[in-house]
Amino acid sequence: MEKLVVNGKRKLSGEIRVQGSKNSTLPIIAATVMCEGEVVLHNCPELTDVVAAVNILEHLGCKIRKEKDTLIINSSAVSVSEISETLMHEMRSSIVFLGALLARTGNAELSTPGGCEIGVRPIDLHLRALRELGVKIKEENGKLFCTAPNGITGNEISLAFPSVGATENVMLAATLGKGRTILNNAAREPEIKNLADFLNSCGARIFSAGEGRIIIDGVKKLHGCEFTVISDRIVAATYMACAAVTSGEMDILNFPVSHISPVLPIFTSCGCRITADENNLHIRAPKKLRSPGTVRTMPYPGFPTDFQAPAMAMACVADGTAIFIETIFESRYKHVPELKRMGANISVEGAVAVVQGVSKLTSANVYAGDLRGGAALIIASLAAEGETNIYNLKHIDRGYENIEENLARLGAEIKREV
Ligand code: UD1
Repeated sequence: MEKLVVNGKRKLSGEIRVQGSKNSTLPIIAATVMCEGEVVLHNCPELTDVVAAVNILEHLGCKIRKEKDTLIINSSAVSVSEISETLMHEMRSSIVFLGALLARTGNAELSTPGGCEIGVRPIDLHLRALRELGVKIKEENGKLFCTAPNGITGNEISLAFPSVGATENVMLAATLGKGRTILNNAAREPEIKNLADFLNSCGARIFSAGEGRIIIDGVKKLHGCEFTVISDRIVAATYMACAAVTSGEMDILNFPVSHISPVLPIFTSCGCRITADENNLHIRAPKKLRSPGTVRTMPYPGFPTDFQAPAMAMACVADGTAIFIETIFESRYKHVPELKRMGANISVEGAVAVVQGVSKLTSANVYAGDLRGGAALIIASLAAEGETNIYNLKHIDRGYENIEENLARLGAEIKREV
């Protein structure tokens, strides 16, 4: 079985250029279905999830070329509005194709996402909002049959929770709808603003995305454009954590530093020194980390659930007690038993995890249960004594480009073995 073999206790130093954001690239790829001209998309990360999204585009009739990290997509011949279960299951967030297909073809037929590694993935908020835009939806045998017989019609909608995916689906559908849509309690993640910026570059009229109340004035069609995806804030923070647990020093380059303001306080609480300009950050870690204190995940601009597991790996080797409260996803502590195999002292009660820092972690065979949990295991293995084997790399490869090459260049002893 493929594994990462990590010999810990190496101090990491050097610089790393942050890859493009997975969570921006995926909805933007879905949005290209709506464009009637060529889209040139720069800074797309090389990830299995991106390949899965490109496979869906090809199935829908789009023509795609790839040149390094640039995708050139021509969607003028989109004719299909059905996505098979196999294609849907390759990528958890493929539900974002729903809004794009409805906008482009007036129909969408796809399977429901079902459960996944971090819990059930309900889409009730997506469906309720789309119904309010005039979409008729039938759910049968795990499939969704959606039509907009009178087109998408603008409306004022309020989400019960600021869901990222539901916000994206509404933005996509309403962009080619009739009249004005106002979306209240919308998600404010940077990826939402990035999707709006992309759509606006193609001729959409979306205002105040990223501010919680989004206004979308429908337009008749979208043209192509050239666009650069933002860099990945969670990947940037993950490399910071790698520096933190190895008493390292790193320059993390080419990402909007403001996007990680919700996680910076835990690094400084742990004793890391940080200097930054708009797009680059320098981190210097102390000899021994201090506990990050209490970490409560929240929608942006709160502490991201996607960084909960990596932050916990830091807390495992810090001095003192840390408390984690996971408020976004119900089963997002799959990394806990694995970290405990490495000697971590963690107890979980419902949504709360209490981490008592230990003086050292030791090597073990561990299994990634989900993407960010996998990142946490890499961080822990860098801090551990001895040789750690990390299995189930398919989860890690969904979100981290060239992770072992990058870490090896920074001084880690890490290799992939088949
Ligand atoms: C996106 C991100 C994911 C991140 C998450 C929260 C992508 C591809 N994925 O996922 O990395 O962890 O945001 O920041 O961008 N919910 C419902 N009903 C719905 C929709 C969501 O109850 O219809 C619940 C979910 O079960 C979850 C919470 O709302 O508990 C947040 O989900 P959501 O913001 O929609 O996350 P995703 O868009 O799936």
